[in-house]
Amino acid sequence: MKAKVLVARATFPDVLERLQQQFDVDSNQEDHIFSPEELQRRMQGKDAVVVTASEKLTAEVIAAHPQLKAICNVAVGYNNIDVAAATQAGVMVTNTPDVLNETTADYAWTLLMANARRVSESEHYLRAGKWKHWRFDQFLGADVHGTTLGILGMGRIGQAVARRSMGFDMQVIYHNRSHLAPELEARANNARHVSKEELLRNADHLVLVLPYSAETHHIIGAAELALMKPTATLVNIARGGIVDDEALVDALREGRIASAGLDVFENEPALHPGFLTLPNVVLTPHIGSGSEKTRRAMADCASANLVAALSGQRPPNLVNP
Ligand code: DGY
Repeated sequence: MKAKVLVARATFPDVLERLQQQFDVDSNQEDHIFSPEELQRRMQGKDAVVVTASEKLTAEVIAAHPQLKAICNVAVGYNNIDVAAATQAGVMVTNTPDVLNETTADYAWTLLMANARRVSESEHYLRAGKWKHWRFDQFLGADVHGTTLGILGMGRIGQAVARRSMGFDMQVIYHNRSHLAPELEARANNARHVSKEELLRNADHLVLVLPYSAETHHIIGAAELALMKPTATLVNIARGGIVDDEALVDALREGRIASAGLDVFENEPALHPGFLTLPNVVLTPHIGSGSEKTRRAMADCASANLVAALSGQRPPNLVNP
């Protein structure tokens, strides 16, 4: 008998077809967001679920499905899953690391550049028909070249962000729980480990690349924003909850930092209404890893984890301790 799998969000049709050849698949190609009740109902009797960051696999959900063997997240971040509860219940949890590093780092730079040079703001101006003549002092932005890039969280994506700064003749400083090995620091444009306070005080452009956890919840709040330069820009491509959105809205409104590029939000898909009133933010809907090639690689990676988990092998990207 084929193992039963719930694929909770739409995926590439060919990826789904391959899964259907091996498993008895309940899919959601119309891609509606399951309510907690529907998720619970559709998980009944399933051996595994393939989910994204939108589905919350709480201890309660996990406990209600004792037959569950694996939760395969199509994302590198897995804060949507209670890994401790899964581990206790003997459920394997997997993610999709590495395949998205370069694409997500590209996107950090997209937001950084758009922010620094006020791309969104000036495009809105143009679309609103407000451009009447060229002006010498119009939409003056911040330089990127020759400035200091700060990175909070120096895992593989952080390092990929740092490497890209070489062409911009930037200095890189970073803060991370641990120092990178000297050869990795060298590859990351000679990145220098500094205290969190030094990072906040000295970065001209600060990129957040931290996983979300109880430890990193609101790691950027009012006190941290107050340490930053008034000319600094902030980019968040990681997870919303690491920034206190209320404090960020205040800082942007009062010009305590220059601008922010945000791909993730505390309560996404809901946005703090303050962001929508501010000209100095670039807002995008969690698309950091969203290139065609990378999303395919993520789907393939999650499938490989699923196949391994349900055939009694160790999945390549097991996250349980
Ligand atoms: C990830 O892989 O964690 C991305 O943010 C998509 O959820």
